[in-house]
Amino acid sequence: MKLLILGGTRFLGHHLVTIALAHKHEVTLFNRGQHSSTAFSGVETIYGDRHHDLALLQGHQWDAVIDTCGYLPRSVRASAEILANLVDRYVFISSLSVYADVTVPGVDEASSLVTLTDEQLQRANAIDTSGQVSAMTYGDLYGGLKVLCEQAIEEIMPNRSLILRPGLIVGVGDYTDRFTYWVVRVACGGEVLAPGNPNRYLQLIDVRDLAEWVLNQIEAKATGIYNNVNGMPSQLTMKTFLEQCKAVSNSDALFTWVSDEFLVQKQVAPWSEVPLWIPDEMSELKGFMFIDCSQAFTAGLKLRPVSQTIQDVLSWRKTHHSQEKLKAGLDSDKEQDLLSQWHEMQQYEHAQT
Ligand SMILES: NC(=O)c1ccc[n+]([C@@H]2O[C@H](COP(=O)([O-])OP(=O)(O)OC[C@H]3O[C@@H](n4cnc5c(N)ncnc54)[C@H](OP(=O)(O)O)[C@@H]3O)[C@@H](O)[C@H]2O)c1
Repeated sequence: MKLLILGGTRFLGHHLVTIALAHKHEVTLFNRGQHSSTAFSGVETIYGDRHHDLALLQGHQWDAVIDTCGYLPRSVRASAEILANLVDRYVFISSLSVYADVTVPGVDEASSLVTLTDEQLQRANAIDTSGQVSAMTYGDLYGGLKVLCEQAIEEIMPNRSLILRPGLIVGVGDYTDRFTYWVVRVACGGEVLAPGNPNRYLQLIDVRDLAEWVLNQIEAKATGIYNNVNGMPSQLTMKTFLEQCKAVSNSDALFTWVSDEFLVQKQVAPWSEVPLWIPDEMSELKGFMFIDCSQAFTAGLKLRPVSQTIQDVLSWRKTHHSQEKLKAGLDSDKEQDLLSQWHEMQQYEHAQT
């Protein structure tokens, strides 16, 4: 098959290219060339900015486009309009952030979607696309904008779109370090601050499992909408995850489970400062790790054991980035400080009883 990838050189896109080539597809990339360290041999790249240079795609023909970098409805609409005559199907990487209400478990593809207020739409329209824009640029607009992107594609290419809504994507090449932080921190050993309830459930997906499934769906000419994370119910909890990090790295890590209340009181930021931690206090996200992905499993989604992801992330990190500061997670001074305060508080409470 002939595939066009809008993006393709950072994380998910990189794995999509790797797997597409392994499946013997012909791949063309369209991007600005700002991440060319991941060059693939035999892959043509059309260099351009999706906000301004889509005309460069004219004159080509592909079986499908995979859009990994669509955030703004106006530019996704423009790419769908131009590609409607150049491709058979439009595959769009959206997000679980499209759902309006994740306070309860069991959100599925038919659940209600975020709508943006007039004020948010005005802010979205004012986003300047001439500089560097990334997922972070969109902040609170991210989910609502993805909804509008999905709708624009389906409006322009009805019944020819495949929309994927992944949750946390993890693995080799992840530039956010949210999962990598835990793998690296536990491998370093010693006393590790472990957040909140040890039995809190985790949903995530290895980037290679997602990419493999996306390619299989494209080959099957699938259309429709799918959530993509590990299924529900699952055995993966924060405790089993950290224990597997310890087993894989053979470290002497000792976990100290620190309560939600304590971390919230100390103004520790969930998710960014302590990755994968969503305290009970954030009741608006109570169902975020309980998304229903049964449709994707019915359509053949297969997941590798998380221990394999941990192993590969550890090797990747040791080989390529051992000196680089992690972009997420507690710095070690703050972790030690929080642990000392936690132990002091425990001793005080113990003395009171
Ligand atoms: N990571 C997660 O946990 C997570 C969860 C849910 C959903 N998602 C979604 O998954 C996707 C992640 O993509 P990724 O970063 O891994 O994809 P990627 O395809 O590996 O990297 C992004 C690509 O987009 C290109 N790009 C960015 N801006 C562009 C522009 N204006 N014009 C042309 N090309 C541009 C970049 O190249 P240049 O910079 O060189 O142009 C790069 O090749 C996103 O849509 C995100 O919303 C991620």
